[in-house]
Amino acid sequence: MTATPPLATGVAWDAEQPSHRRYSIDRYLDPAVAVLEFERLWPCVWQLACSIDHVRVPGDFFEHRCGDLSVLIIRGDDGELRAFQNVCRHRGNLLCQGAGQGLTEIRCGFHNWSWSLAGQLREVPSRRGFGPLRNEDVPLLPARVDTWGPLVFVNLDLEAQPLNEWLEGVPDDVGWVGIEDFGCSVTTTTPVSCNWKIISEGFSETYHVQGLHPEMIASFDDVHAAQHLWDRHAVSYQLYGVPSPRLGSTVTDLDVWDSFCFTQGRRLGCKADRTLPMPEHGGSAFELLADAIRTHNAANGVDLTRFDDDDILGLRQYNLFPNTTVLVSADSFNVLVARPSRVVDQAELFTLHFDRLPPGAPRAHRPEDITNPLDAERLGLVFNQDVRIMSSLQRGLRQPGFTETIVSSEERRIINTHRVMATYLADNQAPS
Ligand code: FES
Ligand SMILES: [Fe+2]
Repeated sequence: MTATPPLATGVAWDAEQPSHRRYSIDRYLDPAVAVLEFERLWPCVWQLACSIDHVRVPGDFFEHRCGDLSVLIIRGDDGELRAFQNVCRHRGNLLCQGAGQGLTEIRCGFHNWSWSLAGQLREVPSRRGFGPLRNEDVPLLPARVDTWGPLVFVNLDLEAQPLNEWLEGVPDDVGWVGIEDFGCSVTTTTPVSCNWKIISEGFSETYHVQGLHPEMIASFDDVHAAQHLWDRHAVSYQLYGVPSPRLGSTVTDLDVWDSFCFTQGRRLGCKADRTLPMPEHGGSAFELLADAIRTHNAANGVDLTRFDDDDILGLRQYNLFPNTTVLVSADSFNVLVARPSRVVDQAELFTLHFDRLPPGAPRAHRPEDITNPLDAERLGLVFNQDVRIMSSLQRGLRQPGFTETIVSSEERRIINTHRVMATYLADNQAPS
């Protein structure tokens, strides 16, 4: 059994003094704010782009999009992972779109200029017409790329601080899970009619569970979920398999079991939105659920016996500034990215689903990438509820009598993100 990891140290929220903050709706609606974000925020921060499984083999590539910014991530012939701004140095065409494999060169589809996978110019048709033009003077424009476990991040700022420093205490806090043992099986990309911050904020608080996810509160303690803030990033520690205190003392073990199966049943082998019969013996619903998850994983060759029940039923929700949520427990690992747009009420939700791999199992080459899966059963009841409320929020913000949101200290991760965001938008020289 692993010891329950201690809370990380860092900036503490003064929970003794609950209070609220108010935020102008301009942050979500004003095109000038989006302009500032694309000028001062997105080119300066580490952004989660894809999984290592997208770019594992030489010739694999992945186009990371952030509004109209585009970064090409490529595994070179030499095994090195590199990133480039996705633009042809001739007249500016995008070089590659989407994701793929088997690339042996980077060739522009407009006039056929080509570069090596390391970004060196190799070929210019009718080169004589350009006069003196040295290959070494026209490489692809580089971007930074680095990895944390199976996650690939990029940064357009070549002077940015290293990724492992940027991530503050997060990797240490989750080190006991061993995220490098997870492989990416599926990604989804869902256009959503809202500002990107609406998506991020939806995954930055659990206050909404009692309102939006009533099916879940019989199996989730949404009242005692501890939160911790570093400087730019934050985490919430959430316990599942127990009922919300909001429901009083009448909740039975069967209620807890059914609620968990209905909302997270896939973790114990249950079909979406269904339930399984609860074993008659073996302990509380909490213990039975942890055992059922261990049994389901064992059937797939994954041994979870070294993790205690809290490690399995305790979910850690990390909010990585500015737009990424990482959800981790001993058996589950999922990542949610709110991709922005210069159009203030358009965004994309990009999700990456990982499976813990049996020891020695080959990693899948190239996850299945699914676009617009809103009606797909695989997203599940709770996630669909999360996504569907987002466009409702954005339209609500447009009502003329509504000028500011009111955010409580329970939603402190949202408050912290606004605080850090202000340092970027107010000052082009914000520390990276
Ligand atoms: S724009 Fe790429 S070769 Fe001309
Ligand atoms: Fe939710």
